[in-house]
Amino acid sequence: MTFSRILGTGSYLPSKVLTNAMLAEQVETSDEWIVSRTGIRERRVAAPDQKTSDLALEAARAALDNAGVEAGEIDLIIVATTTPDMVFPSTACLLQEKLGVHGCPAFDVQAVCAGFMYGLVTADAYIRSGMAKKALIVGAEVLTRILDWDDRRTCVLFGDGAGAVVLGASDTPGIRHAKLAADGRYKDILNTPAQISGGKIQGIPYLFMDGPAVFKFAVKALADIATQTLAEAGVDKGEVDWLVPHQANLRIIESTAKHLKLPMERVIVTLPEQGNTSAASIPLALDTAVRDGRIQRGQTVMLEGIGGGFAWGAVLLTF
Ligand code: ACO
Repeated sequence: MTFSRILGTGSYLPSKVLTNAMLAEQVETSDEWIVSRTGIRERRVAAPDQKTSDLALEAARAALDNAGVEAGEIDLIIVATTTPDMVFPSTACLLQEKLGVHGCPAFDVQAVCAGFMYGLVTADAYIRSGMAKKALIVGAEVLTRILDWDDRRTCVLFGDGAGAVVLGASDTPGIRHAKLAADGRYKDILNTPAQISGGKIQGIPYLFMDGPAVFKFAVKALADIATQTLAEAGVDKGEVDWLVPHQANLRIIESTAKHLKLPMERVIVTLPEQGNTSAASIPLALDTAVRDGRIQRGQTVMLEGIGGGFAWGAVLLTF
């Protein structure tokens, strides 16, 4: 039987730092409000000439290097993003070209902040079915480009960045169990409704979020999917060494940890320095904890994320 296993991780953050104090000079907010409601202290903003594929390339190179895998060995590229370079081609095709490789399947998945979960689960299915042997999965965003910088309810929450993993075929798991979910009935509480039509942008091109409604939905959905994933895998809560959650709000993360009976020392939190980087946040957090030595080979790790759609998911793996 074939399984998939993470061979290496990588990430990239743009150099420009935007602190809460800097934001407080632009909109009516304060460091105290942002930290107490969200846990965020600062975030990174991509340079004007940096595109999502540029951030993805840096993270991909770091993951390939960490895995000891050449770009030419990759036979599947999936990019999770809400902020693609262009309407088409996909950011995955643009990344493939930047990596200097050609021919392997490359496509984007769009599940907003759950995008990396969707990409990872798709790549796992490719590998388990024998359709791929070494896959590159990247979550990359320039989410600050779709923010209304006059809207204090949203502009304080998000940042730019990219994270990547190389997933390879293995005789032993790796990814042990995964669950994805979506419910389009919640499309109106978190969206960016604009579309291109007749050569013009139609509709509002900025991120809209009903924060309290999203908060309420996210807390329950994440607790439920974590419980279901563990139950279906036959794994006890106590066996989870690390939770690597989507980084949207510290209070949501704490609530999930409490539900899993995990102390916060066992939860990877990058939110204070990075804000919500949407599809990039889970692989960014994973790479941070792998590189600083917290997450070790053989440990049990749960990844989970939720975003607009709504779309959400959890992956239980042996690192
Ligand atoms: N600074 C100061 N005051 C603010 C700010 C700000 N940045 N933003 C909002 N306020 C004000 C509001 O105007 C409101 O004032 P009012 O009562 O006078 O109208 C008050 O603060 C309370 O606003 P709420 O929106 O009720 O604040 P809440 O405590 O719910 O916190 C937050 C808002 C942080 C957004 C929270 O609801 C949240 O984290 N929601 C979930 C976000 C999330 O998980 N997203 C995940 C998915 S993201 C994705 O998929 C792209």
